[in-house]
Parts: sequence; structure tokens; C-alpha cells
Amino acid sequence: MKPRPGSVSVIGMGYVGLCTSAAFASKGIRTVGIDIDEKRIDLIQQGRAPLYEPQLDSMLKKAVTKKLLTATNDISHATDTSLTFLTVGTPSRKDGSIDLTNIERATEELGTALREKQSYHLVIVKSTVIPGTTNKTVNPILAKSSSKTIGTSVGLCANPEFLKEGTAISDTLHPDKIVIGANDKKSANTLKQLYRRFYGKNLPTVILTSPETAELVKYASNAFLATKVSFINTIANIAQSIPGVDVNQVAEAIGRDPRIGSLFLKAGPGYGGSCFHKDLQALINFSEDLSYSPILLRATEGTNEQQAEKVVELVEKLTGPLDQKRIAVLGLAFKKDTDDIREAASLRVITLLLKKGAQVIAYDPLAIPNARKQLGETVEFAKDEHSALKGADCCIVMTEWSQFEKLQTKDYLALMGTPNLVDARRLYNPNEYGALNFAAVGFGTQQQ
Ligand code: UGA
Repeated sequence: MKPRPGSVSVIGMGYVGLCTSAAFASKGIRTVGIDIDEKRIDLIQQGRAPLYEPQLDSMLKKAVTKKLLTATNDISHATDTSLTFLTVGTPSRKDGSIDLTNIERATEELGTALREKQSYHLVIVKSTVIPGTTNKTVNPILAKSSSKTIGTSVGLCANPEFLKEGTAISDTLHPDKIVIGANDKKSANTLKQLYRRFYGKNLPTVILTSPETAELVKYASNAFLATKVSFINTIANIAQSIPGVDVNQVAEAIGRDPRIGSLFLKAGPGYGGSCFHKDLQALINFSEDLSYSPILLRATEGTNEQQAEKVVELVEKLTGPLDQKRIAVLGLAFKKDTDDIREAASLRVITLLLKKGAQVIAYDPLAIPNARKQLGETVEFAKDEHSALKGADCCIVMTEWSQFEKLQTKDYLALMGTPNLVDARRLYNPNEYGALNFAAVGFGTQQQ
């Protein structure tokens, strides 16, 4: 590969890395995707996405065909580019603290590759990392392995991402802000220039700050969003014990207050996904290391854990004891439009159902292969939503897939053994499902 000034490399072809790379390439910026996983690289080289994300496949195909995106497992190709983003995973350790092994390894290998490079190179930490990681971990490893002075021949920035699974491409193309944490002007300006090329006239607000602030912005953002969800679920649990009260209307009303805002106030079975739980645990752990006990964050997590029990309580209210009951679970993914089941509320609910002796039959349009790996033979998997409902004593809607919205009262009545329906996602208008035994998160009905 020839050195290409102004081109970009991205180390870690997971969600963030791949979507970021495809988006850069879609704007004509030459991008090299790097990963140690050979299968993943093979797929990307063929223009095929190794994970499901709307719009990603077609974007990737175009980028690879036009040779704007190449993929390799040889990290030395990063030196042919001018900027390298680190987007490797930062999983949790058993105690919830962040595991920086991937970041440390990638930094060291990149630094070693940069030893011989003559021209300036910017390294950008995009992975979610606890405050202090860029300066206290990445900086010294990079300096030692590259034998270069950080801030002069090698620049360093922290630049968190805020994209959501399912809308990752559109979030990358239309972010509400860009946060750049840097110790020196050259690093900050070089990255800002890349974003100016990428967004042109539509460059969003750029917040220039210290690496530590940038790193904390990411955690604060996810902690706030998770807290909003646990807050509305708390109100939902109160609301559902008051006949005639609907949490959705409460959310709509309070959301009109601009100090509160209407987004992220959808009550449900609790948040899932690869980020909220992991990041809250990392932030709690980090705060404790600073001798501060973050009660609010612990309550956010506790409320979320408890929400699965609330869903199962709704089921029991309709069916009585769950032993030997056949329960259809519609939806396994942690939200719609993804095959991701990491930390999904469905898994917590299914675990509780099985513990209580229920037989579970589950269906999801995309997530069954992932769910099968985790749940194995403990659960039966149906080929579609209709067959999942056949003969069931109760159905729980766990993920808000649009195809489940199409199921009507008559379908439930025709297929189920007993038409008990728990809408854990508030997918349905309760007034239209009155012919069923209907219960929903945050919807107060007459006590039975
Ligand atoms: C989240 C953040 O929203 C992104 O900004 C962030 O970049 C990302 O984590 C990350 O750190 O990488 P994501 O995990 O993809 O994105 O999913 P969200 O759309 O935030 O949903 C998280 C969970 O909260 C889902 O289970 C969803 O169903 C639930 N949720 C969300 C609700 O129960 N109610 C709501 O009103 C909103």
C-alpha cells in the first residue's frame, strides 16, 4: 500500500469502527480498516458487513468497490495513513471495571509500526474509556513503543462516539456534536480538519476540551440516558397500580417541558445493549476508586435489573403460577432493527420464567442465531411469530419489532391457548386489545 496523505485508518472493526470507516469512505476519504479477526477482514474485503446494521451493507459494498475502503489484519498499514482511530472493544472485568487490554495492545502495536514513520501521525481514541486513559495509559505506551514525542511528531486525541445500534450510519452522518479532547492545538486542529472535510458545510458544533473531559462526556451521556429510562420505568411501575393511569401520557406531558425533553421516556422491560450496563458499571467502579459512591447510578442499574421482575409479575397476574405454563416471548434483541442480544431484557425475563418452571417459546426476526448460542436448548425457538403463539398460555412482547405491531386481537384469539398478552414495550393501543386479557408496562387496569 502506498502512503496516502489525508487518509484514515481505523483499528477495531466492531460496530463503531466499521460504521465509522464506511461513513468516512462514503465521503471519499480513503480508509483502511484493521482488525486481528481474519474472518471479519475477509468479509469486509468482499464488501460484506460482518454484523447487521441498516444501510451498512450497501455503504460498505460501494466503498469497497470504489477502493475507498480496504481492510487488513496488518497493523503496519496504519502508517500509510495520516490519522488512526482506535475503536477496539473495552469490555468489563468481573467486578464491572473496564478492561483496557485491547486498547493497550493496539496502542503498543501501532506505536511500534510508527517508529520508522517520518511524517506527523495523529492517534485518536474513539473507544469508550474511563477518564484519564488517553493521557495515563495510551500516551505513555504510544511514546515508548514509537520512540516519539507525543504532541509533536505524534498527536493524540480523545474523541468519543455517540452512535446507536440500528441507526448507527445516520447517527454518524448527522451527529448533534463532535467532542475532541486534546492536550495540544495541532492534534485538535488536525482532527477538526478531518471532520471539516467529512461534514463540509454541515460540520456540527465541535466541543474542544481536555481528553479527560471528552472521556467523561461519553459516560455522562450514557449514564444520563440510562437514568432517564430507569426513571420512566419507576413511574411506570407506580402508574400500573393506579387504574386509569397510563405512563405514556405521563411521559408525553412531562416531555413537553424542555427541561425534561420527550426522548428516552419510553417505559419498557428495561434497557439492554452492549453499552449502558457496561458503561454504568465502569463509571460506578471508577467513581469508587475516587472514593465517591454514586448512589444515583447504582439505583439506575438496580431499577433496570428489577424491571424484568415487574414484567414477570404482569404475566403471573394474568396466568397465575407459571409452572408448566407455555409462554411465548416475541422479541429477543435488545431493541428493534438489530440482531444484538447483549444485556437484552428478554434474557433476564426468560431466566426468571424458566426459574419459575415455565416453558418458553421464543421468536425474533433477526436475533435467534445469537440467542441460540446463549440459551441453547433451554428455550424452544419458533419460525415466526404466529407459530410462537400457537397454544401459548401467555405472550410477552419483549422487542418493539414493527412486524409484531401487525398482530391483531383476532390473531391472538385464534392462535393462543389462553389469550393473555403482556405488552412490555407498549407496542399496542390498549383500547384495541380489550377482547384479550391484556396487561402492559405502566398501564393501570382494574385490579383483578
Ligand atoms: C447507546 C446510546 O444511545 C448511544 O448514544 C451510545 O453511543 C451507545 O449506547 C454506545 O455507547 O455505544 P445503543 O446501546 O445502541 O446506544 O441503544 P439505545 O438506543 O440507546 O437503547 C438502549 C436501551 O434502552 C435499549 O434496550 C432500548 O430499548 C432502551 N430504551 C431506550 C428504552 O427502554 N426506552 C427509551 O425511551 C429509550
